[in-house]
Amino acid sequence: MRAVFTLLTTAAIVGLAVSALAQEASAPAADPAAGLSEWARVYEVFSHPRCANCHVEDNHPRWSGAHYGVTRVHAFNVQGGADGSGFGNPGLHCTTCHFNSNSSVLHGPPGVAGWHLAPPEMVWFGKSSAEVCAQIKDPARNGNRTLDEVAIHVRDDALVGWGWDPGPGREPAPGSAQATFDALVKWAAAGAPCPSP
Ligand code: HEC
Ligand code: HEC
Repeated sequence: MRAVFTLLTTAAIVGLAVSALAQEASAPAADPAAGLSEWARVYEVFSHPRCANCHVEDNHPRWSGAHYGVTRVHAFNVQGGADGSGFGNPGLHCTTCHFNSNSSVLHGPPGVAGWHLAPPEMVWFGKSSAEVCAQIKDPARNGNRTLDEVAIHVRDDALVGWGWDPGPGREPAPGSAQATFDALVKWAAAGAPCPSP
């Protein structure tokens, strides 16, 4: 009786092991090629002036695009602020000029609520696809977010949303917030591969 029991248990364990193996084989494998093409879409957005001009490492937002002529440092010596908040220096806060909606005048200040500069570790301006990819995966530099949380920020945040509704004269970022969210989710599911530097 005992021998039969042992035999049965062994058979059950072997059976479990076999079905676990089978499951592993049928689970979707990380697909680097598919992941890299999703990442390329994401980088096209992140590196666009409507996003990258607020994601700088030197505390100075940029003006760029056809509407601005050459890319240059934001006029009026605007800076993220000595206190590191991104909201500007005392006396010249971003919200002195940037209101809760876009100016309807060409070259008027664009705006949504809470306009401020991204922290310097979230730098995209002038950075390669490999560099931005490494940054966005690094919790020490992405605001301690999981990749799901990064995607949700892109879909729901008001400053990000402005990139597709930037006011007169400015070219919007490519695609849409939803399309960029979808690309981020697919990239993460494919193992979040980064291009080689
Ligand atoms: C003295 C007023 C003023 C202040 C203060 C100011 N801005 Fe601006 N900003 C403007 C104006 C005006 C424009 C639009 C210029 C144009 O369209 O030619 C602008 C445009 C921008 C743009 C759009 C650039 C682009 O390429 O899409 C960004 C980004 C920006 N500002 C960021 C900031 C940030 C961040 C702060 C605070 C740290 C700030 N600004 C503070 C006046 C200001
Ligand atoms: C007006 C300035 C501004 C603009 C324009 C802007 N951002 Fe940001 N972004 C910020 C700030 C500030 C933070 C930090 C907020 C936080 O961590 O909660 C941030 C953080 C982020 C993050 C969090 C993770 C990380 O590592 O960067 C993502 C993702 C992001 N922005 C995407 C975008 C995209 C996509 C666009 C363009 C469609 C964009 N942003 C345009 C200011 C801006």
